[in-house]
Amino acid sequence: QPTTFRLLLPEVGRHRAPADRVWVTHGTDVFDVTDFVELHPGGADKILLAAGGALEPFWALYAVHQQPHVLELLREYKVGED
Ligand code: HEM
Repeated sequence: QPTTFRLLLPEVGRHRAPADRVWVTHGTDVFDVTDFVELHPGGADKILLAAGGALEPFWALYAVHQQPHVLELLREYKVGED
């Protein structure tokens, strides 16, 4: 849905800290991972580096995320897509 995409993508950048909710994108999917920040095995500080934007540049560096169980976990937090 092009309309949803244009509304959602600028909105992602407004969610960069737990107080404002923490949103990230992966492909064309949008996730609210606020409730996962404190549960992240790599630490809250690391996951917050991706807050408000795309996961791919970070996950390209940290290959531990290239496992099915990580994508399954992420899917639980999906709030929208393009
Ligand atoms: C580990 C999820 C973002 C850095 C993990 C693991 C999960 C996870 C499930 C454990 C994987 C395993 O051991 O099988 C996520 C999710 C993210 C996210 C859902 C975003 C929504 C990030 C970002 C970074 C990062 C942005 C770096 C800037 C790490 C590191 C580990 C890790 C370094 C390894 C921790 C260790 O084993 O000591 N992450 N991650 N993660 N993550 Fe993330």
